[in-house]
Amino acid sequence: MQTNKAVNLIGIVGAGAMGSGIAQIASQAGQDVVLFDLSKEALTTSAAKLQKVMIRLIEKGKVTSDEAIAIQTRIVRTTKDTSLKDCDLIIEAVVEDLEVKKRVFKRIEEIVKKEAVIASNTSSLSITSLASFCAHPERVIGLHFFNPAPLMPLVEIIPALQTNRVIPQQLTELMSKWGKSPVIAKDTPGFIVNRVARPFYGEALRMLDEGIADASNIDEAMRASGFRMGPFQLMDLIGHDVNYSVTESVFKSFYYDPRYMPSITQLKLVEAGWLGRKSGRGFYNYNEENKEPNASAQLNPKAQVEISERIISMLINEAADAVYLGIASAEDVDIAMLKGVNYPKGLLVWAEELGLQKVVSIIDGLRDTYGETRYRCSPLLRELAAKGGNFHK
Ligand SMILES: NC(=O)c1ccc[n+]([C@@H]2O[C@H](COP(=O)([O-])OP(=O)(O)OC[C@H]3O[C@@H](n4cnc5c(N)ncnc54)[C@H](O)[C@@H]3O)[C@@H](O)[C@H]2O)c1
Repeated sequence: MQTNKAVNLIGIVGAGAMGSGIAQIASQAGQDVVLFDLSKEALTTSAAKLQKVMIRLIEKGKVTSDEAIAIQTRIVRTTKDTSLKDCDLIIEAVVEDLEVKKRVFKRIEEIVKKEAVIASNTSSLSITSLASFCAHPERVIGLHFFNPAPLMPLVEIIPALQTNRVIPQQLTELMSKWGKSPVIAKDTPGFIVNRVARPFYGEALRMLDEGIADASNIDEAMRASGFRMGPFQLMDLIGHDVNYSVTESVFKSFYYDPRYMPSITQLKLVEAGWLGRKSGRGFYNYNEENKEPNASAQLNPKAQVEISERIISMLINEAADAVYLGIASAEDVDIAMLKGVNYPKGLLVWAEELGLQKVVSIIDGLRDTYGETRYRCSPLLRELAAKGGNFHK
């Protein structure tokens, strides 16, 4: 995939949830795809799932039967990795394990042509580290799709320190052609979304632990401010094992910055096997008729607003700091949270609506109450609030 060269053939390594979804997106955009997996069963399941999706799309009138057939036939499934040899762009979506990914990258490099770009869909591993194991690190990049990939528009493009500077732009154009919303993120833990979203869970858990409100009250407060789901509902949906391990990994990667501290309450749910919807119980009980946890009392509107503004202010602070530290532009941070996790508004637009001064005073109020570095205001947010400026010039 060199400058001005067409991307004719896409290779995908790993036909699990993500690899299959990415193959569908590429094929729907008219690309020929080679989908490779070591497991024949994974490939068979992937084909069967795509067929079901296509039947649904035909029923909804979104594709014709001819298009559905074309989408399915453009994807060639194989257990032979040598079939990737003519691919211009290879997207790796195997298990989240650095050792496995290192081996996969080494093997891909042995097979593909020298101009091919090799991307990883990793959610948490360092792209720079992955690139460093390659003979040609300059063609390695992160291409992070969200689950379910065909439905979530966001793609985070993450150049490694070593990546050739033309590749992010080429992938931005390609992802736009595929109908996606690409953003560029610096190679740092959690990239944009998994970093900026931490307070949505962390601050909610903190308020629960302090007895400020119970889970259903906090969820209701967040729904009232426009989120489709409250933090506890969402953690139950994601699974506490997954959500806890992402938080733990971000916390460790940031050298134990208290802002990202995981919650013991969530750890207890993991230990109990109360993983959320998938196990029938998490913060909510999905086995019984009454699925809501018992709310002690309806919160008054003022308390509701205080809860939602505390979480939103902490999210805004995280978003502002991501801009301050050059992780991404203000525009890209807003796009990421809108298109990757369906936030009702871009956080930095939200900051401007709430008033930057107000957000700063909420965070300073928390700092004064707790005396913890967790509640430190981003210098950029403070500076813009003082100047009467805003994030979107
Ligand atoms: N699931 C999510 O919500 C999500 C979201 C964004 C990114 N990701 C990332 O995407 C990647 C894949 O995740 P997933 O949920 O699709 O995993 P998955 O377990 O559903 O699928 C992984 C697939 O990789 C195959 N595989 C394993 N080793 C292989 C090898 N050496 N060569 C070829 N195929 C191999 C497995 O057979 C399996 O089919 C991970 O890096 C994950 O962090 C996942």
